[in-house]
Amino acid sequence: MAKFVIHGRKPLKGEIEVSGAKNAALKIFPLALLTRGTIRVSNVPEIEDVSRSREMLTALNYEVKKIKKGIFEINPPTGGQKKFELPSNLVNKFRASIMFVGPMLASRGKVSFPHPGGCVIGAGTRPIDLFLDSFHKMGAKINAASNYYRLTAKKLKAADIFFSKISVTATESLMMTACFAQGETTLKNCALEPEIVSLAEFLNSCGAKIQGAGTATIKIKGIKKLRGGEYKIIPDRIEAGTFAMLAAASNSGPVLIKNCVPEHLEALWNLFDKIGVNYVLNKNSVKIGRSKKLLSCDVSTHEYPGFATDLQSPYTVLMTQTHGSSLIHETIYDRRLLFTDSLTQMGANIIMADPHRVVVNGPSKLHGRKLVSPDLRAGVALIIAALLAQGKTEIDNIYQIDRGYERLDERLRGLGADIKRLA
Ligand code: UD1
Repeated sequence: MAKFVIHGRKPLKGEIEVSGAKNAALKIFPLALLTRGTIRVSNVPEIEDVSRSREMLTALNYEVKKIKKGIFEINPPTGGQKKFELPSNLVNKFRASIMFVGPMLASRGKVSFPHPGGCVIGAGTRPIDLFLDSFHKMGAKINAASNYYRLTAKKLKAADIFFSKISVTATESLMMTACFAQGETTLKNCALEPEIVSLAEFLNSCGAKIQGAGTATIKIKGIKKLRGGEYKIIPDRIEAGTFAMLAAASNSGPVLIKNCVPEHLEALWNLFDKIGVNYVLNKNSVKIGRSKKLLSCDVSTHEYPGFATDLQSPYTVLMTQTHGSSLIHETIYDRRLLFTDSLTQMGANIIMADPHRVVVNGPSKLHGRKLVSPDLRAGVALIIAALLAQGKTEIDNIYQIDRGYERLDERLRGLGADIKRLA
């Protein structure tokens, strides 16, 4: 199994470029099921989850052509048998495979699939009830047995849907699916993430009638067909925030984080002000300089525009380097703090109050260890910890990191990091 070998405590400075957003890219491939004509998509991060998404479309007889790095053209099938089943081997590999279900149902009238895989960060398997309940409300028949689902709907009808929990993918999935429902659908208690706004803008440019994306209530008028078009993936705010916290924690900059949208990370900059990080925001970049004394600060994860759960793990590592105590409250997932056990093994002073809360007492000197990446975001946090630690760290199971970060080792080496990939 491939692993990273990292020798820590090297000064990190220079420039690093942010990739296109994973959480935007993963929606464009399922969206293609709804459009007639070609979709040309650029700034696509070449990460494992995107490869799985492309394979999913190919398995459904679509042509996904790489034009050049980061640019793909998606063409609808020109023949072949219409398929109604999502391949289990792919669905098992990533949670965002759930995004194919609504568009399949809306465009083909039926779809079958197993329970989606992905990061193990919630209790048991991550639920899909918000999706199933909403499809049911739109008139779909749902047959579920032994973790396998069969959904059918001759014609979807518009519905008033209130999400009992705020979910990014459920909001996006229903926004897409409702494009082909008869009448006007209203979605309430929607997620507000910038990736949702970007998706709605693209859908509207293809002929959809969506209003309110980026607010808690979204209205979608059913239409007959959608055209293809051109879509540029927005920069990955999670990656930008992760690099910013790495630069702040290593405190050896300056580090310039390029090709990002600082406006998407206001919750992080607000914390940086309290911690005392020396940073400058530009229109499309952020510069992290050296800071005098870094102070600890409590945080609670929250849906956008609050502090993203996907940034919680690098923030926890940053708090091991700051002066004082910080309470980290992970409100969204109940397994996302378990990785802190690895930080404790590296020398961090962390007390777990319960599965949702840890107290980090800093600063601590970290030392290298042999570790296993438990999931995507925790994996990247362990890389940051390893870059700060004295000595050698080996991180196994890096497929989890490659799922969401493109050539991370290569880009970090550009800052002066000593990180090698062993096949
Ligand atoms: C998206 C992001 C992910 C991020 C998360 C929260 C993508 C591909 N992924 O995931 O990186 O960590 O938002 O910002 O965009 N829930 C239910 N029932 C459901 C669906 C979700 O109860 O049917 C709950 C979950 O247990 C969790 C919350 O809703 O408590 C949000 O989770 P989830 O919807 O899984 O996040 P995603 O939208 O998949």
